[in-house]
Amino acid sequence: MKHIPVLLDAVMQALGNVDNKKIVDATFGAGGYSRAFLESGAHVIAFDRDPNVRADAEKMADEYGNKFTFIPKPFSNISDLSDTYDAFVFDLGISSMQIDIPKRGFSFRGNGPLDMRMSESGMSAMDLIKASSVEDLAQILRNFGDVKKAGILARAIKSAEPATTFELKSLIHNPRDVAPVFQALRIAVNDEIGELKRALDVVPTKLNVGGKCICVTFHSLEDRIVKEIFRKWTNSIGDPHMPEVEAPHFIPIKTISPSDKELENNSRSRSAHMRGVIKSY
Ligand SMILES: C[S@@+](CC[C@H](N)C(=O)[O-])C[C@H]1O[C@@H](n2cnc3c(N)ncnc32)[C@H](O)[C@@H]1O
Repeated sequence: MKHIPVLLDAVMQALGNVDNKKIVDATFGAGGYSRAFLESGAHVIAFDRDPNVRADAEKMADEYGNKFTFIPKPFSNISDLSDTYDAFVFDLGISSMQIDIPKRGFSFRGNGPLDMRMSESGMSAMDLIKASSVEDLAQILRNFGDVKKAGILARAIKSAEPATTFELKSLIHNPRDVAPVFQALRIAVNDEIGELKRALDVVPTKLNVGGKCICVTFHSLEDRIVKEIFRKWTNSIGDPHMPEVEAPHFIPIKTISPSDKELENNSRSRSAHMRGVIKSY
């Protein structure tokens, strides 16, 4: 299924006039956000760690010339950017292309190898299960999926060492735990929380004054992390030990959830929230 960008109107409204602005699209995906930024006159640097998006990114580069640059790396690499920017936009999680292809192993709806790697490199979910102790696995299920009875489930998964998505699904007896277990493993395989924290850690120093950081989140764990980090930024009053150096200050942008119309047209928007902040000095 084609990827329909989530909360794009809200993101565009939050960004305001982007003509000639420099925007980092941290999660290129199908390029829906990048295209909207470019069409509104922005210069875009886009990241994505999935090698499958490369062809689309190259097409966009052909179309927009030096207004568009693609960096095929995890977005924590924004720490290597030497310039400053007018916006950083994170549309977190996975795309429809990733979830819809059973051989990527993200979905419990189709059978495929238990892979779940966005980058198609490193440890797959199957490798992670093999390498983890029952305790580690239980912690992953608990922390990243809020799975009840995580210990019992971790023991069952560990002893069966499932190689496919359907094998994993067959081990989960409570249907309500299926999606959270898949989500927890995906977050662990892709170090999603580590990536998000490392990236947001460097954003304040790389934003121009008046610049914005916008995050679209898809589950309560990542939403809580973004909310807490943004709250820290907006509450920041500088370093009392170095009063001469003014810490950047941020103002919150109103949090937006999808409208009924968007929910109707795009079920993937179901649990989405857009949060944002503006760097005021
Ligand atoms: C929800 S999709 C983005 C969709 C995009 N906004 C669009 O309109 O087409 C998320 C994308 O971010 C990528 N991604 C997720 N985490 C990443 C990370 N830490 N570094 C780089 N890319 C990441 C995924 O591979 C996926 O393609």
